[in-house]
Amino acid sequence: MGESTESGSMAIGIDIGGTGIKGAPVDTSTGELITERIRLLTPQPATPAAVADTVAELLGQIAQPGPVGLTLPAVVQQGIVRTAANIDESWIDTDVRQLFAGATGRSVSVINDADAAGVAEVRFGAGQDVAGVVIMLTFGTGIGSALFVDGDLVPNTELGHLHLHGGDAEAYAAASVREENNLSWEKWAPRVERYLHLVERLLWPDLIIVGGGVSKRAEKFLPLIETRTRVVPAQMHNDAGIAGAALFAPEA
Ligand code: BGC
Repeated sequence: MGESTESGSMAIGIDIGGTGIKGAPVDTSTGELITERIRLLTPQPATPAAVADTVAELLGQIAQPGPVGLTLPAVVQQGIVRTAANIDESWIDTDVRQLFAGATGRSVSVINDADAAGVAEVRFGAGQDVAGVVIMLTFGTGIGSALFVDGDLVPNTELGHLHLHGGDAEAYAAASVREENNLSWEKWAPRVERYLHLVERLLWPDLIIVGGGVSKRAEKFLPLIETRTRVVPAQMHNDAGIAGAALFAPEA
């Protein structure tokens, strides 16, 4: 068990993104952040060593003991990074469990960012008590995915790399594509709709949860989208990655 809190146990969650590294102590029985999250800028270039130093600095500022769960925007298999779609290539084949444990002196675990956010949503947010196949899709720089079968995660699904419109779906429908091309919600929504149709056709989910920063503005684009599947916005927004990471911390 992690450190004790009034209602359960505590672990530190740290969400590593392309621009920011955010963390907080989390009550793993409720998914709530125990103190306000702290955000440091991701160092550039975001090499493993530089990011590990920033994580150690962040933990110093959080100043709480306990096991640590970290996320990365990459496939992470048994503590080893396998892909680098939107991060520095030097992450590939890095033993990140060893890297972060060495840099922080803590016991750590590392999982994919969308898997972490999905686990938090399924445990505490929009996917609570939903049976069957639930898919969380995070729209940000890329598109992340987390697949659940009766609440159990199938890790590293990488549905953002499904083929759509002549390339990776994320290069067509990610939130960053909307921003970079100044697409109106009306122009971007059909792209998301095409992508959701593709996911539906392949996996026949019972529920799709739309997450990522853009989920805060779900009312702008979800009403423009028609799908066979029920689609709902994520409820935990910015905190999902941190909370989900903490749930995966060793012994949390
Ligand atoms: C990566 C995924 C990640 C997603 C969201 C994709 O490009 O391949 O691992 O979950 O971006 O950050």
